[in-house]
Amino acid sequence: MSEPIRFYHRNAIREVSDAGVTRTVLQYLREDAHCTGTKEGCAEGDCGACTVVVGERDAEGGVSFKAVNACIQFLPTLDGRALFTVEDLRQPDGSLHPVQQAMVDCHGSQCGFCTPGFVMSMWALYEKTGHEHAGQQGCANKAACSTPSRDDIANALTGNLCRCTGYRPILDAAEQMFKLEGPKAPVDVKSLSETLAAIERNETFHYEHKGQQYDAPRTVEGLAAIKQARPNTRILAGSTDIGLWVTKQMRELGDIVYVGQVEAMREIRVSDAFIEIGAGVSVERAYAELAKHYPELEEMWLRFASLPIRNAGTIGGNVANGSPIGDSMPGLIALGARVVLRGGAVEREMPLEDLYLAYQKKDMAEHEFVLALKVPTRTGARANLQFRTYKVSKRFDSDISAVCAAFAFIADGDTVREPRIAFGGMAATPKRATHTEAVLADAQWHEATAQAAMIAMGNDYAPLSDMRATSDYRLEAAKNTLYRFWLETRPHNPLAPHAINVRNVAAETA
Ligand SMILES: Cc1cc2nc3c(=O)[nH]c(=O)nc-3n(C[C@H](O)[C@H](O)[C@H](O)COP(=O)(O)OP(=O)(O)OC[C@H]3O[C@@H](n4cnc5c(N)ncnc54)[C@H](O)[C@@H]3O)c2cc1C
Ligand code: FES
Ligand code: FES
Repeated sequence: MSEPIRFYHRNAIREVSDAGVTRTVLQYLREDAHCTGTKEGCAEGDCGACTVVVGERDAEGGVSFKAVNACIQFLPTLDGRALFTVEDLRQPDGSLHPVQQAMVDCHGSQCGFCTPGFVMSMWALYEKTGHEHAGQQGCANKAACSTPSRDDIANALTGNLCRCTGYRPILDAAEQMFKLEGPKAPVDVKSLSETLAAIERNETFHYEHKGQQYDAPRTVEGLAAIKQARPNTRILAGSTDIGLWVTKQMRELGDIVYVGQVEAMREIRVSDAFIEIGAGVSVERAYAELAKHYPELEEMWLRFASLPIRNAGTIGGNVANGSPIGDSMPGLIALGARVVLRGGAVEREMPLEDLYLAYQKKDMAEHEFVLALKVPTRTGARANLQFRTYKVSKRFDSDISAVCAAFAFIADGDTVREPRIAFGGMAATPKRATHTEAVLADAQWHEATAQAAMIAMGNDYAPLSDMRATSDYRLEAAKNTLYRFWLETRPHNPLAPHAINVRNVAAETA
């Protein structure tokens, strides 16, 4: 039986029974709830005009607040969660929240179209910084103790575009907001957590509209049973790919099963051998964990879409979609990651590169789904792993790769062992460079070796020309990333710059 979608919005629990399954949160806000503060710019997750904040109970009983793009989130996914928009920030006495006041003081708004989105990204940062800090240290002096750096602020705002202000006043405002006295938040987190606990479901949430079904199971078994019974049910995770199929391509999705409430798929487990990441873990959390083990992934982390997209999008969605220009796969393949699939009661795993058979064709049956990824830890001989990933795109932030490169090998003195190279943007699937690897295997890591490997790359790839890059450009750029890898990892390199400040490097080289 269909149940209403229940979520917290504007100080009340809302129940919605008459919305389409793929009605977006933005459509709901503007057309149904008449909260028109949130704007629509692109309807594809790019501009940030529609940024809202979603609150969700966390494992400790608190609430985590994440900025996401309302234009590509479907309303039923709000079930059990809280929705905050720019309308929530004004205080009951009419005064402005420090986030808003700082925008006024620093002249951070001109035409104002982007402003509600910026303000919500800033509020998410304000909340995250305040609560994380207060929770850890019980410190009341937010301004002195927990102000994020200018780079942290810039990273939090990568998903918001402004055509008028030139960004500096907005970054100033985001610094200023921590210094202003004022109401701490539009919410009392403890009571919000209790409210959300009261609407939490223990069983699969089932919703129907005009014959289209939406299920949000709580367990892997529940998800597996639905996929087994109705294999063509579409899996929905963060909807950062799927959302655009609806808003841009007007596609009908059929029945949907949502993985975002399957707790076990949102866990990260670290053992001696593997970092095991559930397929439903957000891209942001997945990279945060991976970068602890492989700090070389930091550039890819920062440059993967924008924070709102990384908050919503999942690592499993990236891998399952398997786009040839997806950013996670080259790095994961170079690290030797394995993908775990589940179908019915059966689990099987394989090296990630084996999942991709041809363009949009995977070794995954219709009733199967991606359960988790297993990334080897940096232990044993892998303590000497040399690893880099590089993204070549026209913009530094929030752009799709023309070429995405990943290189890894175990340094045995000056000798290259077990090289693994993978690229995105160079073939119809994410693909290893086996000819190039063969040149490197057991060779001395000298410049001549790197140059021979660059030549061999021509045997691995015959990339396409498209709007992002020509075939020649792609191949040349790919070879150059290998040369850069050599420069950065050559023996006795005095710089060894795996923890360079990528944003500064980009600014210097722009
Ligand atoms: C503005 C914007 C910028 C972007 N930038 C980047 C970028 O820089 N780099 C990049 O790589 N990508 C980028 N993307 C694409 C997208 O964010 C990623 O591919 C993301 O990881 C998709 O995950 P999701 O959870 O949103 O998947 P969804 O959209 O929910 O699903 C994507 C596909 O995967 C399937 N699926 C999802 N989970 C599973 C599962 N567990 N098992 C089986 N099938 C599953 C779905 O059925 C669907 O076919 C961008 C997207 C947008 C809108
Ligand atoms: S309207 Fe542009 S990101 Fe949503
Ligand atoms: S103030 Fe005009 S788009 Fe930002």
